[in-house]
Amino acid sequence: MTKEWLGGTTIFAEMSALAVRTGAINLGQGFPDTDGPEEVREAAVRALREGKGNQYPPGPGVPELRTAIAEHQLKRYGLVHDPDTEVLVTAGATEAIAAALLALVESGDEVIALEPYYDSYAACIGMAGGTRVPVTLRPRNGAYHLDLDELRDAVTDRTRLILLNTPHNPTGTVLTREELAAVAELAVERDLLVVTDEVYEHLVFEGEHIPLASFPGMRERTLTISSAGKTFSFTGWKVGWVTGTPELVTAVRSAKQFLTYVASGPFQYAIAEALRLPESYLEGLRADLRAKRDLLSAGLAAAGFEVYRPAGTYFVTTDIRPLGESDGFAFCRALPERCGVVAVPNAVFYDHQKQGAPFVRFAFCKRTGVLEEAVSRLRGL
Ligand SMILES: Cc1ncc(COP(=O)(O)O)c(C=O)c1O
Repeated sequence: MTKEWLGGTTIFAEMSALAVRTGAINLGQGFPDTDGPEEVREAAVRALREGKGNQYPPGPGVPELRTAIAEHQLKRYGLVHDPDTEVLVTAGATEAIAAALLALVESGDEVIALEPYYDSYAACIGMAGGTRVPVTLRPRNGAYHLDLDELRDAVTDRTRLILLNTPHNPTGTVLTREELAAVAELAVERDLLVVTDEVYEHLVFEGEHIPLASFPGMRERTLTISSAGKTFSFTGWKVGWVTGTPELVTAVRSAKQFLTYVASGPFQYAIAEALRLPESYLEGLRADLRAKRDLLSAGLAAAGFEVYRPAGTYFVTTDIRPLGESDGFAFCRALPERCGVVAVPNAVFYDHQKQGAPFVRFAFCKRTGVLEEAVSRLRGL
């Protein structure tokens, strides 16, 4: 196996270091610059003081959180999960992805992933000994789309699973009901498992998020991954989870116990409370991010970028060709010096790097004043 991830640093580390060195505004890495709700922070403090989670929590996660996750899946999506056997708490979605792939993929298995893909997918498929088979999302009419024929053609006798991500980082695409139904039909027809990364499930501005597990025939073949990081703006707490059948969840737990074993004890109690916040919290989060999306998208368009306004997530992908540029890497490396803003080149999310070369991603999960300043700096381009 070629360990292509060995010795490298991620583009986020490189660009964040560049931001620090140049004093640029960092719209590269996707973390909010304000913390989540005060009452959730207080819940974590209370848990620490009351000695909840200060020692190893139970391997599958504390029962309070597993119950809250099962309630969330039922209330929002009508998905019934037994909190004892069908819910597993992980160290963020990152560990859930790693453990799922390590548990389910055998050496030589093919894993289909939507390209551009979140960077840990490639590394984890590699660590599991699998071969990744990218299916490229293509820009059309201002948004990125899944070509269902291409997806169908990518399935071979060696395909073990499809690794899906919706809402999708970095393109901001939210797969439609029709697209998801087609993925589901294909998975059933070819008897495939699907691991679906839905960490941006609550950050949808247009359309709706529909979990793949809710489609006919999918509950028994889908592992659904989500996380508190994006939904509650506590990316440092690393509380994530997996839901699925007892067999699939047990498989993931078997791998997980040798990765972190357990993590984030007191924060698990706090996120159990966060999941029960009133709907107004999520509405407020979405309204805030929608306004920020519009602010940054308009600013980028005014600066001369072609903008793919995202339907979900907190990223906006742009095409730099209208600026007379074509190499996203060179563009992003020069941008801090040119105008004091950091972005990331989408090419790092591609196997077919040429496909991604002219695209650049900006994050808008930042304070309005920071985005306004970034927009004003970008105007100087
Ligand atoms: C698509 C996607 N999956 C997973 C993660 C990681 O989630 P966590 O911080 O919960 O590990 C991210 C974070 O950026 C992401 O964009």
